Amino acid sequence: MAAKKLFAPLPEICRFVTDVMTAVGTPAEHAYAMSELLVAADYRGHLSHGLNRLSMYVEDVRNGTTDPCATPEVIKEKSAVALVDGKNGLGPVVGNFCMDLAMEKAKETGVGWISARGTNHYGIAGWYSMRAANQGFVGITCSNTSPVTAPLRSKKAAVGTNPISVAAPAKNDSFVLDMATSTAALGKIELKRSRNEDIPLGWAQDIDGNMTTNPDKALLANCLMPLGGAEETSGYKGTGIALMVDIFSGILSGANYGPFIRNWKNASEKANLGQCFIALDPSAFAPCFEERLSNFLDVIRALEPVDPNKPVLVAGDPEKIHMKEVSYRGGILYHQGLIDAMSKLAEELNICPLRSTVVGTC
Ligand SMILES: NC(=O)c1ccc[n+]([C@@H]2O[C@H](COP(=O)([O-])OP(=O)(O)OC[C@H]3O[C@@H](n4cnc5c(N)ncnc54)[C@H](O)[C@@H]3O)[C@@H](O)[C@H]2O)c1
Repeated sequence: MAAKKLFAPLPEICRFVTDVMTAVGTPAEHAYAMSELLVAADYRGHLSHGLNRLSMYVEDVRNGTTDPCATPEVIKEKSAVALVDGKNGLGPVVGNFCMDLAMEKAKETGVGWISARGTNHYGIAGWYSMRAANQGFVGITCSNTSPVTAPLRSKKAAVGTNPISVAAPAKNDSFVLDMATSTAALGKIELKRSRNEDIPLGWAQDIDGNMTTNPDKALLANCLMPLGGAEETSGYKGTGIALMVDIFSGILSGANYGPFIRNWKNASEKANLGQCFIALDPSAFAPCFEERLSNFLDVIRALEPVDPNKPVLVAGDPEKIHMKEVSYRGGILYHQGLIDAMSKLAEELNICPLRSTVVGTC
């Protein structure tokens, strides 16, 4: 029998995530921060990092490896920089705090650079860079994560998918680069498996270190490939960028790093992730940043495409297209498997299930 496609409106998803997090002991404000983050991920089309991830955050709270009540604390500070201890709180609670602090500093000094340790998985990196871009700053953030990516030539995973994001405001426009530094995020392989689809070559290795297109073999080995894939296609560049992210995230802050970070899938210890948040005030440099960036983006988009049906895009455009579709439809389309898992979770926690409507099959 074909699986159903279900539709849920954004406010309802927000309500559901907040209820779930509250039911496991999260203060309302922190639960709401989590709901905003997950809804934004699904809205932007990063379904691997939205509702799909909720059970993992819940598990971390239930098994005591994340403290949902914790609030971050500044432990060291100079004019433009600060070191923050996330106190093992929820990723979005720490992330929002740090980017807000970076912006406060940037207002005074032109730039704010916050290094955080003792933190947890913070979802889509773009959430934090856009928080700054929405206030007129160039926002930059990166995070280390559980070691699921093999440095080039390695049989074994030793770095995370280490996301990095840069968001810059343009006149009536924006540039939002938001990416894993592995070729694909792990969640994308999970989604492929749930849809019974192969993964592209260059995404992941099997347990022998060979590239595989089989999502089961990939998830069994838990070993992604760096951005760029094999050596012939410059996977060493992805490896370098993933290590760079960890220098700014784990090494700088004193958090765990590289292979010393726990595996998120069967976590019994705290993650102690490291993250970096930068806000840059463009008005401290040449005038009319937003106008010139807007012109630059337009020039790139106007280039003649190879395929007339596939116009040239800039970072952030695919997400804008997805958001337009979601807004037109009025909500997010989910696979039946995820809705079933959410119904089970709601039953366990004795809360109202996610109200969704069947809109077809997939
Ligand atoms: N917190 C974590 O541990 C973690 C780890 C990995 C990834 N993530 C998140 O997962 C999400 C997905 O990451 P990803 O690397 O799979 O993203 P992706 O490959 O879908 O997109 C990466 C970037 O490329 C841009 N892009 C995509 N197609 C394009 C095109 N045709 N032309 C121009 N630009 C294009 C997108 O706008 C985006 O900025 C991100 O939000 C990331 O932050 C989080």
